[in-house]
Order: sequence, then structure tokens, then C-alpha cells
Amino acid sequence: MAFELPPLPYAPDANEPSIDKQTMEIHHGKHHATYVAKLNDAVKGTPFEKKKIEEILRGINDVPQNVRQAVINNGGGHANHTLFWKILGGKGGQPGGKLGDAIKSTFGGLDGLKEKVNNAGVGRFGSGWAWLVKTPDGKLDVTSTANQDSPLMQNQVPILGIDVWEHAYYLKYQNRRPDYLKAVWDVFNWKEIEKNF
Ligand SMILES: [Fe+2]
Repeated sequence: MAFELPPLPYAPDANEPSIDKQTMEIHHGKHHATYVAKLNDAVKGTPFEKKKIEEILRGINDVPQNVRQAVINNGGGHANHTLFWKILGGKGGQPGGKLGDAIKSTFGGLDGLKEKVNNAGVGRFGSGWAWLVKTPDGKLDVTSTANQDSPLMQNQVPILGIDVWEHAYYLKYQNRRPDYLKAVWDVFNWKEIEKNF
């Protein structure tokens, strides 16, 4: 079966005022939908169209070279946005469970994590993502990727990601990426984020 655009798990205005309704509608219904369509074009008629996108990205070097960059861009775009929609729609607050403990021991708590992730997002020149990831040895780390590159290609598990492409915030925040980064934490759904750990 071809890859499909997952429905938003909440109404498009559910993340207001941090993320406005129109941005959510365009971001999900146009940008993410385009990544899915182009990913399907890239893998059409190959064994990759039956695999999970996470599996494809973890083994990205097995993808034929003539379509590899298209899979990195559009498959990464599909996986990154699918995670992003899932971890929004909440009310922020504090992380709990094992992830909460790990954030405390690694970053001194939520404020320490926020500062690192937001610095990674502000420091990403051009388009990309800021991430909290689990490294292959099971530790937490904060990283940033360019464009739609997925942490899965680096053998890392994405736990939390913030899209810092202008399409994610420009309608409401224009050039004020730091304000957007600050506001996103108010709508994180920690119960969902904890599941990724
Ligand atoms: Fe995006």
C-alpha cells in the first residue's frame, strides 16, 4: 500500500495560540501531503513501497542512489511531520515517567532541555529541525538536522522534534523564530512524547 497522509489527531485550531489554525491547515494539508505524494512517486514499483518509513530511513543506504535523495527529503518529511503532529495537541507542563527522570538527570530538568532544544532551533541556518533524540547507547541528546533529514538516518530515535522551516511559523511569527520555539512547548503532549522514549 502506498504511503498515506495521517489525519491530524485533533482539530486544526487545537494548538492556538501557539500555532494558528491556518498554519496547521496548510502545513498538514499541503506541505505534508506533498511529501507523501513525492515519496510515493519515488518508491513506486520498488520493494520500498511496502516498508515502514522508519525502517527505510534507518537503512537509507540500501535505497537505490537514483531515488535516495528524494526518499531522504520526502520520506524524512513524512516521518518528521507524522511525529510532530502526534506530540502536539497537549497542554505542555512537565514530562513524567522514565523520560521525565532521564531529562532531569541529563539536562537538570525541563528548563535545561528547553534551552538546549531552542538554541538548536535558533542556530539551524535555513530550514530544518531541532530534536531531542535517544542515541544508540540509550542516552538523551539534543541535535539539529538540515532540511528534512531524519535522526533515524544517524541511528538515533527521535523523541521530540520542532519543525523550524519557515512554513511552520511564518504566518503568525514572520521572522521571530525564537518566539515560535518558545510557544511550542505550551502545546506539547508529554504523554505521547514519553511513548517515543
Ligand atoms: Fe514542516
